[in-house]
Amino acid sequence: MTTIIEVEDLRKDFGPTRALDGVSLEVEQGTVLGLLGPNGAGKTTTVRVLATLLAPTGGTARVAGFDVRTQPDKVRSIIGLTGQYAAVDEKLTGHENLWMVGRLLGMSKRQAHERAEHLLERFRLSDAGDRQVRTYSGGMRRRVDLAVSLVGRPSVLFLDEPTTGLDPVSRLELWEVARELVADGTTVLLTTQYLEEADELADRIVVIDRGKVIAEGTADELKDRTGGRTLEVVVARRDQVGRAQEVLCGLAPPEGVRTDPAARTVAMPVDHDTALAAEAISALTAAEVEIEDFHLNRPSLDDVFLALTGHAAETGEHHDPGEEHGRRFHGPLPGGADELLTDRKAR
Ligand SMILES: Nc1ncnc2c1ncn2[C@@H]1O[C@H](COP(=O)(O)OP(=O)(O)OP(=O)(O)O)[C@@H](O)[C@H]1O
Ligand SMILES: [Mg+2]
Repeated sequence: MTTIIEVEDLRKDFGPTRALDGVSLEVEQGTVLGLLGPNGAGKTTTVRVLATLLAPTGGTARVAGFDVRTQPDKVRSIIGLTGQYAAVDEKLTGHENLWMVGRLLGMSKRQAHERAEHLLERFRLSDAGDRQVRTYSGGMRRRVDLAVSLVGRPSVLFLDEPTTGLDPVSRLELWEVARELVADGTTVLLTTQYLEEADELADRIVVIDRGKVIAEGTADELKDRTGGRTLEVVVARRDQVGRAQEVLCGLAPPEGVRTDPAARTVAMPVDHDTALAAEAISALTAAEVEIEDFHLNRPSLDDVFLALTGHAAETGEHHDPGEEHGRRFHGPLPGGADELLTDRKAR
């Protein structure tokens, strides 16, 4: 395995605000890293530093061995970025947006045209390719946005909340594209407010809060660390729920036992003790409680997030789109350089 993104002790201050307070992380080539954290945690800031749109205050960040601070052009030549807010030109058609980026990346007119056609097809936008983007639905905009970031065939792709505001079908489609890209060897760093998305796509997850890494691991590791499993039993007859509850209260601290008479369920925490779960089932059977079904529930990533950060994941629809409008970047576009310079002057 080759490490393609290496971030060490990254710090970023915006005036008095410490957005990144010593973030370190690594991403292996051809894998998906999910960067999770509550609003204001520093996800977008991390992505923008890695995409050379912001100069860090301290620490180092390297993409494919190139330092974002000293070799930004090298970094830009291999990355693609789909920002948190759609930033294609509304007045241009889908095809024109893609074509223009191809030209900016140095393609011939013909190459840029072919690349645009290919991407429109891949994202099922061929029929809409000659319409202005302002006539597109939200899902179509996001697809064209992602397509734009792929014009230059980036080997590292940053997706900042790529599916925020998308309907479930569009979200599934975007996941499908992301999986295809990874299957082709692309490395993806994904931020998301949807923990299900991280669970589905990410090989590893880094959780940040207030500019610091507070946990990392695979989704399974994080779930295991957060805690225990729960045995949930569905009893066949509602009049036996009380009896089942008594039995379980004999095996576990009664305050941990939950019942839901309407759903005919009783549940008890068993942590990692599968023998205890088996014992509970035997005890219920011995007490002649008729069992319809039972299962061991693991904590969800939402539970993990809540346990780590003290609050539930947000849906991400509260953003002020004006805040960061137009921050989409791929390849050597001038906007990135300007901002980097402005940012340096400000320090
Ligand atoms: N250009 C800026 N000027 C001043 N402060 C900023 C700027 N950009 C970000 N911040 C601050 O830095 C912190 C981290 O912001 P960032 O956008 O990285 O968070 P995030 O994790 O992406 O949040 P969200 O989930 O809302 O997108 C926040 O406190 C934010 O207000
Ligand atoms: Mg953000």
